[in-house]
Amino acid sequence: MFSVRIVLLPLFLTTLFFSGCRSGSTEADGGFQDAHSFANTDSVHIRHMDLTLNVDFEKRTLSGVVSLKIDNFKKARTLILDTRDLEIFKVEAEGENPQRHYSLGESGKGYMGLPLTIDLQAGDSIISVAYKTSPRAAALQWLAPEQTAGKKYPFLFSQSQAILARTWIPCQDTPGIRFTYTATVQVPRDLMALMSASNPQQKNKTGIYHFEMEQPIPSYLLALAVGDLRFRAFDERSGVYAEPEMIDKAAYEFADTPRMIKTAEKLYGPYRWGRYDILVLPPSFPYGGMENPRLTFATPTVITGDRSLVSLIAHELAHSWSGNLVTNATWNDVWLNEGFTTYFELRIMEALYGRDYEQMLEQIGYQDLLRTLEELGKDSPDSRLALNVDDRDPDEGLSLIAYEKGRSFLKMLETEFGRSRFDAFLKKYFDTYAFQSMDTERFTRYLRDNLIKHRRRVESQIHLRQWIYEPGLPENCPVPDSPEFRKVDEQRMAFLKGAAAGQLKVQGWTTHHWLHFLRALPANLTHSRMADLDKTFKLSASPNSEIAFAWFLQAINHNYSGALPYIERFLLHVGRAKFVVPLYAALNKQDAYKKFAREVYKKAREGYHPVTYSAVDRVLK
Ligand code: BES
Ligand code: ZN
Repeated sequence: MFSVRIVLLPLFLTTLFFSGCRSGSTEADGGFQDAHSFANTDSVHIRHMDLTLNVDFEKRTLSGVVSLKIDNFKKARTLILDTRDLEIFKVEAEGENPQRHYSLGESGKGYMGLPLTIDLQAGDSIISVAYKTSPRAAALQWLAPEQTAGKKYPFLFSQSQAILARTWIPCQDTPGIRFTYTATVQVPRDLMALMSASNPQQKNKTGIYHFEMEQPIPSYLLALAVGDLRFRAFDERSGVYAEPEMIDKAAYEFADTPRMIKTAEKLYGPYRWGRYDILVLPPSFPYGGMENPRLTFATPTVITGDRSLVSLIAHELAHSWSGNLVTNATWNDVWLNEGFTTYFELRIMEALYGRDYEQMLEQIGYQDLLRTLEELGKDSPDSRLALNVDDRDPDEGLSLIAYEKGRSFLKMLETEFGRSRFDAFLKKYFDTYAFQSMDTERFTRYLRDNLIKHRRRVESQIHLRQWIYEPGLPENCPVPDSPEFRKVDEQRMAFLKGAAAGQLKVQGWTTHHWLHFLRALPANLTHSRMADLDKTFKLSASPNSEIAFAWFLQAINHNYSGALPYIERFLLHVGRAKFVVPLYAALNKQDAYKKFAREVYKKAREGYHPVTYSAVDRVLK
């Protein structure tokens, strides 16, 4: 899901990589089955995980032992775990004759990996698996020193969502199961390790780091990063990690984090994870952000120097409630994570930066939603909130629908029932289901019981069923309006009527004004008009990744070749899929640029995370 809110995947692309997974998961009597997991979660649940890992930068492998404390509530004779590209050495239980027989099964689907079936004996409660990852593990990116800010040390990070945890840890890899974890990680002495857990704030001399996550989490929130890292505190419960070269900039950019946390707590209740820290990754990080608990992973491409892209932090922080606390039961229910989080994100942004700002974000999201619907086709099943990605890689079913249609649905409820009632409803929802998983049916029931209160007329008036189970957009979808963007529209009109770029009134424009200006440029602008914009506003050379990206797409679509050298530099430096994939797709659509796209990709590919290069491979294949 790279094409998130602000993105712009051309439509065929959107379909290509946002299509979803199979669900079939209900949690009746403790047992449930997720189409994206081989694990026999209908009879055994992992309760705690203990990891001991050695990080080998030379071989590009993690190796060690995972010990799983299991609750075998149906006295199953086997424990089935998810694995992908793992080498398994040994499986043991506790006690005498610890060795347990195991076998790796088969799977027709590469993204699913292979089931590891372990024979259990009566009373087995801890199972340990000794294993090693592949250098090509899809969750992991091993960076050479040149790919870091400091250029001196290598770097490693993981990305487990949606179903990549199994490429670095054998586990029940489904969001429907949660467990606590502890870990001991050995890294080269000049590096520091961080996880989605309690973290060090300084390097130690041994290179051995201990971690503890005392709240139960699903597997997709397991995370690890290793690099030459520094920490800077914002206040007593939050701070930021980055390479030494980036730490000042990162600390400045995200300085509002403590206020964001307080604002979020005021809205929907206490932050329940202890610390909230941010880790700024190298530019090859494939996402904008990832809500790893206690430690949000963030792309450096939101560090602009003017704090204009910090809604990303509001978003990842909001996941501490919507997603990490109340978790989508399967990837068919991903709108319960992303739609709620996008709604919550904008509430934080409104409270902190005002309604004008929030309306710009809303408008951009709404435009993304309309574009996504157009690309998917309005009857596409992938435009439903209740997805069915059972037979696909979950990343393929995911689109901005989960984010923006999900957000619009909640905004509609807010409008219908009033903000204070809706807020009380959401707060109670997070409290009631804290540390549990939630599927679409269960949420719908909760909504009927607690907000709609079984008033039939209300239910049909708000088109409840249509919103959740049908494709397209119901007629009562809120249409946002942004006074700020109307000013931008005026300037764009003036330009289209012939005013020179230099005559436009752009004083005080923020990143979002520019995005709105650029995204709505018409297809028929001539080369010289494009050049006028570029020369006047230095768009090709913009250090702001969002502005550069919006401009590059226009440049490509208008055959404005002046931007090509900048596009090449961008693609060689940045690996964020939301930018990279649409750029290659746009280049590939123009006969004149097909060769250029391939040449750049040949050089850039090895610098991308597996998530990014797999998606680009599909586009350029
Ligand atoms: N959890 C997502 C990232 C994700 C989703 C990874 C699905 C893998 C599968 C994260 O919270 C997210 O939505 N990131 C967005 C940020 C945004 C909408 C502010 C991104 O990366 O662009
Ligand atoms: Zn998200």
